Amino acid sequence: MNASAQIGVTGLAVMGRNLARNFARNGYTVAVHNRTTARTTEFVEEYGSEGAFVATKNPQELVAALERPRRLLVMVRAGGPTDAVLAEFAPLLDEGDILIDGGNAHFEETRRREAELRERGLHFVGTGVSGGEEGALHGPSIMPGGSAEAYAALGPMLERIAARAPDGSPCTTHVGPDGAGHFVKMVHNGIEYADMQLISEAARLLREVGGFAPRQVAEVFRTWNSGRLESYLIEIAAQVLAHTDAATGRPFVDVVADRAEQKGTGRWTVQTALELGVPVPQIADAVFARSLSGDTPLREAAAGLPGPAGPELEGRDAERFADQVEQALYAAKVVSYAQGWSMIQAGSAAYGWSVDPGAVAAIWRAGCIIRARFLDRIRAAYAEAGPDGLPTLLADRGFASELGTAELDWRAVAATAGRRGVAAPGLTGALAYYDSVRTSRLPAALLQGLRDYFGSHTYHRTDRPGTFHTLWSGDRSEVRTD
Ligand code: 6PG
Repeated sequence: MNASAQIGVTGLAVMGRNLARNFARNGYTVAVHNRTTARTTEFVEEYGSEGAFVATKNPQELVAALERPRRLLVMVRAGGPTDAVLAEFAPLLDEGDILIDGGNAHFEETRRREAELRERGLHFVGTGVSGGEEGALHGPSIMPGGSAEAYAALGPMLERIAARAPDGSPCTTHVGPDGAGHFVKMVHNGIEYADMQLISEAARLLREVGGFAPRQVAEVFRTWNSGRLESYLIEIAAQVLAHTDAATGRPFVDVVADRAEQKGTGRWTVQTALELGVPVPQIADAVFARSLSGDTPLREAAAGLPGPAGPELEGRDAERFADQVEQALYAAKVVSYAQGWSMIQAGSAAYGWSVDPGAVAAIWRAGCIIRARFLDRIRAAYAEAGPDGLPTLLADRGFASELGTAELDWRAVAATAGRRGVAAPGLTGALAYYDSVRTSRLPAALLQGLRDYFGSHTYHRTDRPGTFHTLWSGDRSEVRTD
């Protein structure tokens, strides 16, 4: 076999297939392989005319078809199947070759695999790929981790196949060492969960309180999509809301079961945030909202509990309410993204990755599921903040001012949701986060007092340094314990 291919792809399910086609359409020779050879044959029959493919029947053939350093993209299921494929290929490779995992792997697994393969002289690049099937084919957002040396050999190819931001730059960058790419992809998905929850709550409020039919909500979303909320998720939300079920003639959203499913990346984000001690309540609420939606026994048992039912708004009042919901949605979205970026910064610090938060925003401007106009604002905010960075995105002057403008409407929407008994954990929880981070005094002082009372857990004072304990069961005098 002639070593003529610049990249190999093993695993020709839909994502692997479309990435292989994307590389070929961009002028690369791509060696393809699948565990069942029939799929490889079918692939070449169907797409062979799109570019230069080398069909290979086994791992040895695939490896022999690759130019050095060999670049081999593994597109199989996360977990055991990935480990099995890596174990199969690693002994066939030479020092300096690059194995790439483009699946949704957990970043800790990626760290383990990177360390093991590094021991054997191989590069391992765990990379996030976002944008679904279409993105993989036409240009995804790509988040590679691994060594700088591996990126030097692989990055230019990724830059060719990635989506292009509106300013023409490719939506990929070297995110950072070992698991940084998969970590950042995990947070992307956590933000995706939060954003989808907020959008769904906004639609619900427009319907329940504003009296808008699904088609009318779709219209409102279309209008929003020409402003600062412009994003892929708002765009497709309008399409889903406007869709009519062919079998019944009813709105699609009225015939689909209201039980959200999940494959687990949102849960990973929250679990990791708990480990890192970084608050991401909007992402957590979004994960819990999905779990709650699927908990049929719980919902059936609670279905009769009392709650208000009020008249719907009409005419100008409904229009005014829609404007308020736009403000609330935008503000809560900024808060959710701020939490995501805090998590990226916390992960980067904990693992020593030096992730550039502005660069992450830059590569999410196109290609990925959360692509949105305002990501360019996030990029600019971090670029402006310079090396000391922003402790939170909410401290950026531009966003702070917008939140100030949105605040009253946001509070009105939260109050209306509460009064009308429409659950909106994302929109109202984001407001609680906003109020928590901006206030000068939190209720945590009493909490510290309670901990000291029942467990002598000690506390700090506002007026002098040191660690203190009050003798609660004695004369209540204070002792210094440090
Ligand atoms: C992407 C998506 C992709 C996938 C999610 C769906 O970036 O292209 O995030 O990774 O659609 O994993 O996740 P759930 O099934 O958990 O909603």
